[in-house]
Amino acid sequence: MTNPADVKVAVVGAGGKMGTRVSNNFAKSDYQASYVETSPAAAERVKDAGRELTDLETAVSGADVIVLAVPDIALGPVTETIAPMLQQGSIVITLDPAAAYAGLLKTIDGVAYLCAHPCHPSVFLERTSPEQWADTFGGQAAPQEVVAARQSGTDAQQALGDEVIRCMYGPVIDVHWVTVKQLAQLEPTLVETVGCMVGQFLKDVMDHAINEVGIPEPAVKAIFYGHVYIALTNALRGSNPFSDACLLAMDYGREAVIKDDWARIWDDEDLDRVLAKMLRLEKIER
Ligand SMILES: NC(=O)c1ccc[n+]([C@@H]2O[C@H](COP(=O)([O-])OP(=O)(O)OC[C@H]3O[C@@H](n4cnc5c(N)ncnc54)[C@H](O)[C@@H]3O)[C@@H](O)[C@H]2O)c1
Repeated sequence: MTNPADVKVAVVGAGGKMGTRVSNNFAKSDYQASYVETSPAAAERVKDAGRELTDLETAVSGADVIVLAVPDIALGPVTETIAPMLQQGSIVITLDPAAAYAGLLKTIDGVAYLCAHPCHPSVFLERTSPEQWADTFGGQAAPQEVVAARQSGTDAQQALGDEVIRCMYGPVIDVHWVTVKQLAQLEPTLVETVGCMVGQFLKDVMDHAINEVGIPEPAVKAIFYGHVYIALTNALRGSNPFSDACLLAMDYGREAVIKDDWARIWDDEDLDRVLAKMLRLEKIER
């Protein structure tokens, strides 16, 4: 294990949503962190948090690890800009696989390109304190896991990256290493295309029950929040069997709501289609 005090980390985009979260964790650690921002409003947030700003070239050229907390659509140009500044042996960490999988990152020989995406604390996490309960996103009090991918680099660079990732997203239970493609299949396909869409769909259906059907809101929320949890724990963990009548209603719902060809979201062409939308490109050129 490396001594964090010997490792220089640069956070680029330090005043954004993720930049602020990871900077808060680096600031509490022994890593030697520097913080970079371009937007005046975000730069103010970095200063308000009590952190000094460093210019891009100084931060990146002096860093062992560079965390790119910039928007996905900026990752291509940012990796192009920093390429000549990077030290041999350094490690670039991005926070989402879309740009890496789409081939938009400017990579340099001798520099490791890793991507690490936080899983957020599990819905089944046994939270033991009010702080853990309040930490819905993760990275503060509630332990979470991380899925990471190595686009390039050595085992030693990955090992150091793993240590840094555990700090920036901490408290971390474990880091699971997969391929860049697998990470892109997990996020967006599994997580955003399905998980987040279903979460928002639950809200839309609930709002409809309240606003259009006219059922009192407290009754709707009472029955729905409890049943959403039992549905998740029954389906994902097999905690209890669904009742026979419920299984029939579930079949009816699947027929009414889900398209028969839903599994096409796992096709490579579909993944490219959603990534092109997210990266605001006509199409993914690989
Ligand atoms: N927001 C989330 O919930 C979340 C969760 C997981 C991963 N991510 C990933 O984290 C990354 C950042 O997303 P975000 O939501 O924090 O974005 P954001 O828009 O909140 O923040 C991005 C920051 O980068 C700064 N920036 C842009 N170009 C820059 C440059 N050239 N140099 C320095 N700073 C620059 C912006 O000023 C801004 O403060 C993305 O890859 C995103 O996919 C986001």
